[in-house]
Amino acid sequence: MKLQRHSRLILVMLGCTLFGAAMVLLFQLIWQAAEEHERNPNRVNLRNQIMRRKTKTMHDILDGMIYGDLGRVETAANRMQKYSETINEFLLDPRYEKLSLEFDLSISELSDSAIRKDMDAAKEATLRLERNCIECHSHINRKNRNLKPKATNESSFNET
Ligand code: HEC
Repeated sequence: MKLQRHSRLILVMLGCTLFGAAMVLLFQLIWQAAEEHERNPNRVNLRNQIMRRKTKTMHDILDGMIYGDLGRVETAANRMQKYSETINEFLLDPRYEKLSLEFDLSISELSDSAIRKDMDAAKEATLRLERNCIECHSHINRKNRNLKPKATNESSFNET
């Protein structure tokens, strides 16, 4: 009798310990998730990640061109098309819209010429694509510079 009660007590204690351990684990998991969330405010990191991938994709296109691997070029061009969709309408001025359009055109020209295995056309489209990167980014940089508040107290001036 006494032994039975004893082992029931042990069982209950074991149960409590297991439950406690599970709670600690759960708490740790929640804490970790919260920390990760903290490190990722406003999806800014996500956007930067996409943009780094954009640079890497351009690199892939160049590599594909250098090695004459148009299959690789086509795959990369299709990926670039997706990234292009994420930056559409970032700015709403006519010049940005024109640059966006040119970017999309270069990508589809590149993709088409890669499918046709037309190395010359692919080369021209790649060069145009690179030019599009630089042109759009200098447009954005110029706008950002102009929008910076001058030495005056216009700190609330941050329209884009
Ligand atoms: C039509 C405009 C446009 C074109 C063309 C364009 N980008 Fe971008 N890019 C953007 C915008 C908008 C952002 C986001 C800027 C921001 O959020 O401040 C961006 C961000 C980036 C960033 C991240 C910069 C940062 O501050 O984190 C990189 C790198 C980048 N682009 C590379 C490229 C490459 C490589 C190409 C060409 C294959 C390209 N871009 C073509 C508009 C463009």
